[in-house]
Amino acid sequence: MSTVKTAELVAIDERRLLRRLDDLAQRGALPGGGIFRALYTPAWTSAMELVTTWLKEGQLLTRRDAVGNVWGRIEGSRGGRAIVTGSHIDTVRGGGALDGALGLVAGIEAVTSLWERFGRPTRTLECVAICEEEGSRFDTNFWGARAIADRIEPNEAERTRDAAGTSLADAMRSVGLDPANAVQAVRRDIDVFVELHIEQGPVLEDHGPRLGVVTTITGTIHQEIVVRGQPDHAGAMAMSRRHDALVGASAMTLAIAELATRMGDPAVATVGTIVVEPAQVNVVPGIARFTVDARHPDAPRRTELITQIGDACKAAARERGLVVEIRTLRDRPPVTLSPRVADVLRRACRAAGLDPRDMASGAGHDAQVLAAAANTGMLFVPSIGGRSHCPEEATAAEDVVLGTRALASALRELAYQQ
Ligand code: GLV
Ligand code: MN
Ligand code: MN
Repeated sequence: MSTVKTAELVAIDERRLLRRLDDLAQRGALPGGGIFRALYTPAWTSAMELVTTWLKEGQLLTRRDAVGNVWGRIEGSRGGRAIVTGSHIDTVRGGGALDGALGLVAGIEAVTSLWERFGRPTRTLECVAICEEEGSRFDTNFWGARAIADRIEPNEAERTRDAAGTSLADAMRSVGLDPANAVQAVRRDIDVFVELHIEQGPVLEDHGPRLGVVTTITGTIHQEIVVRGQPDHAGAMAMSRRHDALVGASAMTLAIAELATRMGDPAVATVGTIVVEPAQVNVVPGIARFTVDARHPDAPRRTELITQIGDACKAAARERGLVVEIRTLRDRPPVTLSPRVADVLRRACRAAGLDPRDMASGAGHDAQVLAAAANTGMLFVPSIGGRSHCPEEATAAEDVVLGTRALASALRELAYQQ
């Protein structure tokens, strides 16, 4: 990666940017509020069609890759490895209008504005709508970025299922993709990937400034914990003789939250799902299954947190005569982003009028996967009230515009060098 050490403020079409964010938020909007665009569903297809229209309107060469990522490309006059921006199109269930959508719509705006104002870049410049990041439908995540970075395992699409039992491979077929071709999505010619994203936490709002440059992305482990007790009659079995799996799982949940709290920021741990069996009002739960999401950006501290969680669950099970099994679903270590791309982003923020804060991301991002394949950087704008993964997720319009301007300035420096 080589860049010209200049940064200039690039004008963008603010109204088009904000209107497109509103339009995209209609795709997958839920009647009760919030958005759900799960991979390869009709809402997802409709959103991808809209994005494709915008890429074509911007006169970008548009194509869908082998897993459904949609790319818009401007061939550089000197070719070489590509400069890429973008983010994911999928959402969590009941998510907001900006997680993923901002980086994608702002990426299209930045690339289109550069193309309109400065013509052909010297370096190939692309914008990508990544098909899946959240893990909100299938028992996996980062599907789109992993396909690009050659991190998909053989037969993974056939093995991976959603809650209804549909395989990822069948879901691909339902939108006209052949899972056998997934490997064709691999890109080995990306020089730089830059992702603009909402912070999803309160740091920028509470402490400023209005832009953050991400230096590290936290490490996340997802575990499934199964607690086995004994189903019994809810009326006739005495409290003292019960082996209630849900009572055990509840004690474990409290212990998990307490451990992360005691470790202190930025350690976090969440029990996000729980189901019991046989799930009947008058039966003592015999089995409780729950998931844990535990994160820390420092690898040894994260290992410590995971060990403490395991020990606490085993102790809670022992005390209540329960059996506990812990299974790792996914383990994504912390990732350090490119210092050189961070420098480009800092210069772009200064061109946009402020000195950014260096920060660690507590959320996972496509950037952490693409960092294995390219020099990768991330830019954050504030989230109002630090809220995200909920319908209330929002960022002030002027911050959306500011972040997009800074992104455009960074891409100008990266893709238009002489
Ligand atoms: C995705 O947003 C994650 O951090 O899990
Ligand atoms: Mn998210
Ligand atoms: Mn996201």
